[in-house]
Amino acid sequence: MSQRVALVTGGSRGIGRSIVRELAVSGYKVVFTYNFRGDMAEDLLQTLARDGFRVSYFQLEQSDRDSVRSIVRTVMNDLGAIDILINNAAISQEKPFEVITDSDWERMLKVNLQGPFMLIQEVLPFMLRKKWGRIINIVSIGGQWGGFNQVHYAASKAALISLTHSIAKIYSKYGITSNAVSPGLVLTDMSSAELLTEQGKQKVKSIPLGRIATPEEIAKVVSFLVSDDASYITGQTINVNGGMLLSHGV
Ligand SMILES: NC(=O)c1ccc[n+]([C@@H]2O[C@H](COP(=O)([O-])OP(=O)(O)OC[C@H]3O[C@@H](n4cnc5c(N)ncnc54)[C@H](OP(=O)(O)O)[C@@H]3O)[C@@H](O)[C@H]2O)c1
Repeated sequence: MSQRVALVTGGSRGIGRSIVRELAVSGYKVVFTYNFRGDMAEDLLQTLARDGFRVSYFQLEQSDRDSVRSIVRTVMNDLGAIDILINNAAISQEKPFEVITDSDWERMLKVNLQGPFMLIQEVLPFMLRKKWGRIINIVSIGGQWGGFNQVHYAASKAALISLTHSIAKIYSKYGITSNAVSPGLVLTDMSSAELLTEQGKQKVKSIPLGRIATPEEIAKVVSFLVSDDASYITGQTINVNGGMLLSHGV
């Protein structure tokens, strides 16, 4: 079997960075994207190269159809059709509900929901041709229990869970599985603002495992889900939250 091609969005930092490493080490041809932090993308490429793993990266603005289409075509020409899509890139914003503006809302939904929608649409024809594909959407516990200070973020993730389920319903019969991985709190740039708030501190205290996750702990689950060992798992939301959902929010 030829090496499978994996596209990881938002691979330059945080959870995506760990997913890139995990998949590269597991033997996939990995392409990842960044948005602004080209320096971090280059740093990851060099770090992995020193360890003997070759990956490549591109700039992506995932709220833009042309940017999405261009990445998918470039990967196709350089490495072959994308077999595995990891929709990891997203934005967050700490803001009380009353002051979320229309443009905050639109931006959140464009990046976190429309981006994954467009990426899925662009890669599906290639997966259908091969009758094999893996789509993983990184969602969030916020999409399952709602948000206090990130209502628009939570709404975008809830919708992404629904999109994950719909794709599974339509395309699983063609050998394409679609699953969501739902972290609770993970140590990355994205969570740093929330962790400074009283709400954030309370949330950490309520985690049954007593700590937040490392990005690697999320990446390991993603790596399993894209493997042939996960061939009968589709349409699921896999919780990787240290038991947080049991505490029903604070
Ligand atoms: N951290 C947590 O506690 C937590 C909890 C639950 C779920 N999650 C989810 O896990 C995923 C990864 O989160 P993270 O904490 O690793 O985030 P992060 O550290 O903030 O990294 C976000 C990544 O997305 C990229 N990105 C941002 N806006 C983009 C855009 N418009 N177009 C394309 N790429 C864009 C960034 O690129 P640049 O580096 O170039 O800016 C970066 O690579 C997200 O889906 C997030 O919602 C995180």
